[in-house]
Amino acid sequence: MFIVTPGCGTAPGLTGAPTGTARCGTPARRYNGTSVEKTFYIETFGCQMNAHDSEKVAGTLIAQGYRQVPTVEEAGYVFYNTCSIRDKAEQKVFNRLQPFKRHHEGKVFAVIGCVAQQEGEKIFERAPHVSLVAGSASYTKLPEMLVQLETGNKRVTGLSLDTEDTFDTPFTRRDNPHRAYITIIEGCDKKCAYCVVPFTRGPERSRTSASVLEEARRLADSGYTEIQLLGQNVNSYRDPSAAGWDFADLLDAVGGVPGIRRVRFTTSHPRDFVKRIIDAIDANPNLCNHVHLPVQSGSTRVLGAMQRLYTREKYMERIAWMKAARRPIAITSDIIVGFPGETEQEFQETLDLLDAVQYDSIFSFKYSPRPNTPALGLPDQISEEEKTRRLTMVQEKQRAIQIRLNADLVGQVEEVNVEGRNDALGLWLGRTSRNRTLGFLHPNGEPKVGEYLDIRVTRGGPNALVGEALPAGGNRSGVN
Ligand code: 5AD
Ligand code: SF4
Repeated sequence: MFIVTPGCGTAPGLTGAPTGTARCGTPARRYNGTSVEKTFYIETFGCQMNAHDSEKVAGTLIAQGYRQVPTVEEAGYVFYNTCSIRDKAEQKVFNRLQPFKRHHEGKVFAVIGCVAQQEGEKIFERAPHVSLVAGSASYTKLPEMLVQLETGNKRVTGLSLDTEDTFDTPFTRRDNPHRAYITIIEGCDKKCAYCVVPFTRGPERSRTSASVLEEARRLADSGYTEIQLLGQNVNSYRDPSAAGWDFADLLDAVGGVPGIRRVRFTTSHPRDFVKRIIDAIDANPNLCNHVHLPVQSGSTRVLGAMQRLYTREKYMERIAWMKAARRPIAITSDIIVGFPGETEQEFQETLDLLDAVQYDSIFSFKYSPRPNTPALGLPDQISEEEKTRRLTMVQEKQRAIQIRLNADLVGQVEEVNVEGRNDALGLWLGRTSRNRTLGFLHPNGEPKVGEYLDIRVTRGGPNALVGEALPAGGNRSGVN
């Protein structure tokens, strides 16, 4: 769902501390001798961290008196919040910048996020109509940067990575009125050989547990029932305040905030994943029984070359903790095929790992060489054709596993949080605690988005479940 904040002031979807009410009005500002409307459009590419950064950027701009609009055409300021995790994602951004060459007059174009951090001022050469380039570690300075543009600077950049700050905003313009993201840690100190993130998002910075809990309580007070804790590696969360909490402590505490009935978290790094996280999930039904634990490869030799800092055996030990939990925990993962030097035998070890773990779902990718990363210089790059073959094999195997796992759920009752309706299918859509999409019929009326309902599963497909709402008496209300 997308909420466009109507008019001015504190609009629906705008959450924040009671200080600093958004200023009204959208008067034109001067820029390069032309007027620029104080309206902005923001488009997000990439991961949930980026999606949430865009919510915070939007909140920051609204607090400065800018108004969000749903199209580029209506906007004075156009923000692209970009992703560079794989080459394809990066190319998408440059393609998006192309068509506006002809009709950019009167608009300010800003490239923010990972491509901005990675490419820096080179973006001005490739897309001369861009005026602002800023990486995520510089978002706290965005209002200043806009003032610089408005007072006559032609181009501004924010590319420093040495900030100690986390991007905590007084206002966040959230896209979803029921489910909210909270960043608990920014940046990444791991140095996985294929990954640009340490270069684009800088070193790890954790927020204090007090500020995370305060945000969770504020969200619960505004009617949010689901929270997703975000970080590139949430498991290395360390409370910088005297409390000194680790991630398991924080997870437990957020799960105890009155009014919050679902807590998710992403992403976990297997090296830092501790058993106390499973104990916390077991003990508190508000913590969703889903863990995303990216393995990347089933071969210990390849994991070493990737600098992942764990072996296949260590990873499987963590899987065993989850399989032994009292509540069935859904396990999902990321897989990279065709890392430089990956032999056929090593690739088979990844296929074998899929059989051993029986993931509920995976994201799978062909290895994509990225600038600055150690893997870029490795010998034995795998051909594109071979990477495609391996990816297809991974996806076919995983599809068969999902068909089996989802068929096993037929007859069970799953609680869903209602997310909307698919008119083409004639089904309402919800999400289960185990993060499955469940399309359902509701014979007794119209469910409300955000409501929690019990659904009996009647069919399982490779990617989703289908079911029917239990009669009214069997349903629970959306409030704790
Ligand atoms: N090539 C392919 N996939 C990558 N990922 C990260 N970097 C690369 C890359 N260079 C994948 C990893 C990670 C997910 C977010 O993206 O699987 O977990
Ligand atoms: Fe990238 Fe590895 Fe950090 Fe994840 S843990 S963001 S894959 S460097």
